[in-house]
Amino acid sequence: MDPPPQQQHPVVDIHTHMYPSEYIDMLSSRTTIPLVRTFPSSPDPRLILLESEIPALERALADPSAPLPGRPLTSHFTSLSAKLAFMSRHGISTSVLSLANPWLDFLPTGDDKEKEEAGRTAHCINASFEAMCAANPGKLFFFGTLPVTAPRQTILDAITHLSELAHCRGVVLGTSGLTSAGGAAAGGSGLDDPALLPVLHALADAELPVFLHPHYGLPNAVFGPRSSAGEYGHVLPLALGFPMETTVAVARMFLAGVFDAVPGLVMILAHSGGTLPFLAGRIESCVAHDAALVGKDKDGKRRRSLWEVLREQIYLDAVIYSEVGLKTAAEAGGGAERLMFGTDHPFFPPVGEGADADGEWESVRLNAEAVHKALGDGSDEAALVMGGNAVRVLRLYKA
Ligand code: URA
Ligand code: ZN
Repeated sequence: MDPPPQQQHPVVDIHTHMYPSEYIDMLSSRTTIPLVRTFPSSPDPRLILLESEIPALERALADPSAPLPGRPLTSHFTSLSAKLAFMSRHGISTSVLSLANPWLDFLPTGDDKEKEEAGRTAHCINASFEAMCAANPGKLFFFGTLPVTAPRQTILDAITHLSELAHCRGVVLGTSGLTSAGGAAAGGSGLDDPALLPVLHALADAELPVFLHPHYGLPNAVFGPRSSAGEYGHVLPLALGFPMETTVAVARMFLAGVFDAVPGLVMILAHSGGTLPFLAGRIESCVAHDAALVGKDKDGKRRRSLWEVLREQIYLDAVIYSEVGLKTAAEAGGGAERLMFGTDHPFFPPVGEGADADGEWESVRLNAEAVHKALGDGSDEAALVMGGNAVRVLRLYKA
């Protein structure tokens, strides 16, 4: 059993990412997103992940004086010692690591060789995370990665593998769902696809919660030409596209009855559930007033409301940066017991003149402050959100 931390109230970061070196090697050999590329004017290679970053990538390739695309690939994305230093600087006792987006969504699945490759890559990345955690007992656990573009049996095999790894506490999943050919994309079959049910059942049976994380956002056109021209940086895709993607994905699962079909499924939603806590009432009302849905309860059973699903099968991270959002998230889940602190490290480092990535991160401070302001500094509720809930739900420090 991994030792629990010394302090009475451990601080657990459940939303914290890394890219192991084999993943970066894969991105460095690619010419379409996601990719890693060096530019003469940049000391660090650039990590270009999002569709919204394509216009800037094209401008930078055509004109060396154009602003650099994506974000710098600093050691914070790849180095275990940088992660551990970040944790100790911010008083984080334990981190539950996850591969960052877009995970293995982009792997091709054309022929048998490629299908095997997706399974092998997932195996290798999951083994890397397990080794990092095993070398830091009590400090690190991880959410595993699934080869979502591989055939169903390969995905089920990956779940079996993860359930045998001592430090795995769930899986990180995007919204794209399964794909039969080509890499997954925003237009993949989604998490309401009945073909995904055996995978969700297997995760529930293995008691592996799903950490649901966005990547695809909304189409660039929604944000307009000035956003594409780079005038607004990453603000609209990250602040609005990401949360809307999560909201839509979970609403689709709810409408498809996935939570009723897999009652043992436990989900932890990134960014406090996108806009779900705020919009759950509207979603409920739209269901209740839609002739296409009313009276369609399965097997004569009463339909569970979205509020009930939020209180029975869903946890939210506390990555919302404000007291107002955090209070709403807590209320939606029926209390502080369903919220878990996170940082989103290594994204959102300090920027601008004098910025020091090895100092205190404002993004972390804002999330911690929101918890203490919303729930009371020193309160039992705040302690639960900062770590107690993660220890209980993810069975940390237990064999
Ligand atoms: N946070 C993430 O987790 N991923 C991104 O691409 C950007 C912010
Ligand atoms: Zn994240």
